[in-house]
Amino acid sequence: MYTGEMLESMKKVEAARDANTVLEPRRMTAAEKDALLETYHPDYKKSEFAALRVGVNRGELVPHELAALLEGKSRVNPDEIDLSRADYECDVLVIGGGAGSSAAIEADNAGMKTMIVTKLRIGDANTMMAEGGIQAADKPNDSPAIHYLDAFGGGHFAAKPELLYKLVNEAPDAIQWLNDLGVEFDKAPDGTMITTHGGGTSRKRMHAARDYTGAEIMRTLRDEVLNRGIPVIDFTAAIELILDDGGRCAGAVLLNMETGEIKIARAKCVILATGGAGRLHYQGFPTSNHYGATADGLILGYRAGAKLLYADTLQYHPTGAAYPEQIFGALVTEKVRSLGAKLVNANGEVFMHPLETRDVTAASIIRECADRGNGVKTADGVGVWLDTPMIEKKGGEGTILARIPAMHRMFAQYGIDIRTEPILVYPTLHYQNGGLDITPDGMTAVENLFAAGEVVGGIHGRNRLMGNSLLDVIVFGRNAGRHAAERAKSVTPGTPTLAHVKAFAEEAAAAGVEAQVQSPKLLPTYSHGNPDFQRKAF
Ligand code: FUM
Repeated sequence: MYTGEMLESMKKVEAARDANTVLEPRRMTAAEKDALLETYHPDYKKSEFAALRVGVNRGELVPHELAALLEGKSRVNPDEIDLSRADYECDVLVIGGGAGSSAAIEADNAGMKTMIVTKLRIGDANTMMAEGGIQAADKPNDSPAIHYLDAFGGGHFAAKPELLYKLVNEAPDAIQWLNDLGVEFDKAPDGTMITTHGGGTSRKRMHAARDYTGAEIMRTLRDEVLNRGIPVIDFTAAIELILDDGGRCAGAVLLNMETGEIKIARAKCVILATGGAGRLHYQGFPTSNHYGATADGLILGYRAGAKLLYADTLQYHPTGAAYPEQIFGALVTEKVRSLGAKLVNANGEVFMHPLETRDVTAASIIRECADRGNGVKTADGVGVWLDTPMIEKKGGEGTILARIPAMHRMFAQYGIDIRTEPILVYPTLHYQNGGLDITPDGMTAVENLFAAGEVVGGIHGRNRLMGNSLLDVIVFGRNAGRHAAERAKSVTPGTPTLAHVKAFAEEAAAAGVEAQVQSPKLLPTYSHGNPDFQRKAF
C-alpha cells in the first residue's frame, strides 16, 4: 500500500507529466559527471574497500566482502583429496552458465570432448536475468568503430583496447549466430531487426527479444547444448582448480551440492564462466542477480594464480525496483528509459537526462535522494519515480505490452499498472565490471585456464554500457571455446596437484591473514542471525 506521502508525490508526477514528456533534459558535461561520481558513486567510497594482502594482486583494493573471500580458507584440505582418480575426464571442462554454453558449443564444434558443470541448473545465470538487449553495430548508420567509441568513453577509457576491439567487431556476427540458432529477436514486418538506444549509445543498436532478451538467448543456448548431447552436470560446484606439476590448469575439484560428495574432473583446458558477484551485496545494496552470483570464479582463478583487473569497480544499475518490497532490487530494464520514461523526483521534477551512462545515472539518483532530499520514502529506504506512463504518451497506446511485457507483468502482480502509474526505483547491484584478466584468446595468466563472461575484467573498462554484457557472453564465450579447443588438441597434462592451494594458504599465514570464511561461497546466506544482506536505510 502506498503511504499518503507517496500518493501526494505521485499526484505531482501526474500533474507535471505532459510537460515532462516533451522536456529535453540536457546532458551533463564531463566535469559535472566526474564531480558527481566522485561524491556519490559507491565505487568511490574508499572506506568500503580493503587492500589485498595475499596473491598476485597484493596491495590492490577490492570490496571488503570480496577481500574476505579471496583471502578465505579453501573448502578442501589438499592432503585429503585423491587426485589419482578421475570421476570425469574431458578435453574442455566448462564451469558455468551463459558464456559457458556459448563456449561449450564452439568446443563441441571443434570436435573436442566437452562437459559443463554448473552449481545450480544450466540457465540459472545472470544471462537468463538480462532484459533490455544486446548491442551490435549492424545498421547502415552505425559501425563497430562508433560502437567502440561509445563503449570506450562509457568505460572511462579503461577498457583493454584489444578486447573491446574484438567485442565490437564480432558483434554483428554474434547476432547472426544467435538468430540462426533460433533466438526470436524483435523484428519489423520486413524482417529487419528493431533496435533502440541504451545509456551512452550514439546509435540505436540494442537488439532485443521484448524485455526478456537474456531468457530468450539462454533458452536457445541451453537447447543447443542439450540437443548436441554435451554432458551437463547440474548442482555441481567447482571448489578448487587443479593444476598440473607444470603449473597448467588440468581440471577442477567439484562438490555435488545435493549429496556433498567430492568429485574430480580432469581436463586439458578449463573455461571459467561463473559470472558475477551481486549476491555479495556490496555496501548493503540489493541486487538484480541470480542466487548463485557469489564471485566463485574470481576466488578459484585467483588462488590458482590468475590476475584480477579492476576488481574495485562494480555496476549499480540505476533502476532497481524500490517498491513494492517483494521485488526490492529486481531489475527494471534500461529499455523502459529507452522507450521514453524519464526519472522524476518527489516534486515531479525531471532531474537528469534518462540515458546518461549507468554509473552517472545511479550516482545522480543517489544524490537526488541523499543530499537534495528529493527522494520518495518507502518502507525499505527511498527511491525516485520512473514515469512509465510517458512511454505510451510518446510511443502510442499498446507500446508497453508490445515492448516490455515482462515489466508490466512484474508490477501488475502487486496491483501496479505501469501504463497508468509511475514506479519507484533506486540503484541495485547489477554487474562486476572487473574480473579475471585475459588475453584476446580468452586465456588467463594460468596456462590452459580460460575465462569468459562476467567473470572477466577489462572488456568494458570501469563501467559497462547496457547490452554489452550479453554481447560479451556470446563473443568471448565462443572465443574461449574455440581457443581452448584448439589448445586442448596439443596438451598432455602432467601430474595433477593442489600444491597451489597449500602455497596460497602458506602465503596468507605468512602475511598474518587469519581466514574468516570458507571460499568460494557458493550460495548466499539469508537467515536471521547471520544475514548476508541487511537492508540499509539509504
Ligand atoms: O537494463 C537492462 O536491461 C540491463 C541490461 C544489461 O545489463 O546489459
